[in-house]
Amino acid sequence: MSTDAAGSEPAPILLLNGPNLNTLGIRQPEVYGSATLADVVELAERTAGELGYGLRAAQTNHEGQMIDWLHEARGNISGIVINPAAWTHTSVALADALVIPEVPIIEVHISNVHQREAFRHHSYVSPLASGIVVGCGIRGYEFAIRRLVEVLG
Ligand code: DQA
Repeated sequence: MSTDAAGSEPAPILLLNGPNLNTLGIRQPEVYGSATLADVVELAERTAGELGYGLRAAQTNHEGQMIDWLHEARGNISGIVINPAAWTHTSVALADALVIPEVPIIEVHISNVHQREAFRHHSYVSPLASGIVVGCGIRGYEFAIRRLVEVLG
């Protein structure tokens, strides 16, 4: 596990959210619920803090930006919780970047993608993930962080 410069505290968990998740609470609430991205970040920060980890959270609608963040994360984080949103189903580039930090990954989807359109059933990220949380609403982020910390041992 990566630690900080003093070697005393674990490096933070990186929480990444992909395209359109900045509109959580407004976008299709019947699918994604009424909670906002700020609510997700607060829940994730609280959960990570309870388990002794800091959290770095970021969302972007720009694929290259997310790839750059993953490059920069190498050596600086303990693990990744990611909701790649639509890039889940489309992006080999994101999947390639996700292995660069060489840390455990938990994939999260707020909705049950397997109950939805066939194009949402395939994920380029799942083969890289230590765990996948699907269809648990925003509580899935809490479950993902708890599982990531278990995986980190
Ligand atoms: C999502 C599911 C994806 O299919 C979709 O493109 C999203 C959100 C989810 O959290 O349920 O944007 O990742």
